[in-house]
Amino acid sequence: MRSKTSKTMAAIAGAGALTLTLAACGGNGGGGAGAGGETGEPGSQQGETVLRVAFNQNIEHPQAQALLQASDEIYESTDGAYSLQLFTDETLGDQNSTIEQMQTGALDFTIVASPLLESFEPQMAVVNLPYLYTSPEQQVEVLNDPEITGDLYALLEEDGIKVLEAYHAGVRNIYTTDAPVESPEDLAGLKIRIIPSDTNQQMMSLMGGVGTPMAAGEIYTALQSGVVDGAENNEITYNDQSHVETAKYYSRTEHLMLPDYLLASNDVWNGLDAETQEAFMTAFDTSVQTEFDLWAEDTERATNEAVEQGAEIIEVDVEPFREAVLPLHEQIAGDGIPKAVYDAIMASGE
Ligand code: GCU
Repeated sequence: MRSKTSKTMAAIAGAGALTLTLAACGGNGGGGAGAGGETGEPGSQQGETVLRVAFNQNIEHPQAQALLQASDEIYESTDGAYSLQLFTDETLGDQNSTIEQMQTGALDFTIVASPLLESFEPQMAVVNLPYLYTSPEQQVEVLNDPEITGDLYALLEEDGIKVLEAYHAGVRNIYTTDAPVESPEDLAGLKIRIIPSDTNQQMMSLMGGVGTPMAAGEIYTALQSGVVDGAENNEITYNDQSHVETAKYYSRTEHLMLPDYLLASNDVWNGLDAETQEAFMTAFDTSVQTEFDLWAEDTERATNEAVEQGAEIIEVDVEPFREAVLPLHEQIAGDGIPKAVYDAIMASGE
């Protein structure tokens, strides 16, 4: 259970974050959301204990919106004892550093892209394989089925990380600044930003390019300055993080469907009593569906906005890319827990 002191600390951190972000974005939202007054806005009800959630994108993002709703549900079901406070726009640092803050108990929850967990537990790579899932529905179902992924996620508990939910985070496509990518040959010599992970690095080499790992918040400048020739991401991030300004060619390679995980600090989580954990999990389970539904709408909006800004959406033959990366499947899912998870994913996609 968290103390009053930590509640006060959260409120102070929130106020600081809000001021900073407002200054940085010209008053355009962000910062600490979910601990404001009783305005009726999602996430505005503040519990006696406020648990902090780090998030690297904006407050309009489907994951942020789903969590603000979860916060209200938690507030109601715990009779005002708990709520969440979201720190958006990387206010608390990039995703990797938020995992580290969570491990020390300095942070309660974070949402991170799955490949970042490979450096804590290499066996997590199995859920990050390219061309693995057959549909977003299948992905969310298998990744949130404890029968399939329970043993895998439990491995992270040794690192102080508790996996609570897997969110759908779209289908990733390659986008470039100078010329469209239509085949693996077009990627030759191109530096493409990837999420830092061995699997992503190998994947990009097999696809024909040169993987350049960096945190999400660095991509915009890297594209602008020519440090990278392109990146790969879903439509929401491509548009909303303004990558579209520089990288106009969006090629539907559809190579990855990576989940984002809602993680808790294991210590914080284990400090909550069973009833409170259940209240949180009920709200978080609902947030997976809420996010999923919002995702589809928001992808359409983001795609339209990107096209209005001059993006060219290029349909490509994905087969050569798929064939190039398939050897990774056997390499990563050869035995043990990864093989069991892989086989279950394959069986569920048939
Ligand atoms: C997606 C994903 C984020 C991640 C980002 C990235 O947007 O949802 O969690 O940070 O990709 O490429 O780093």
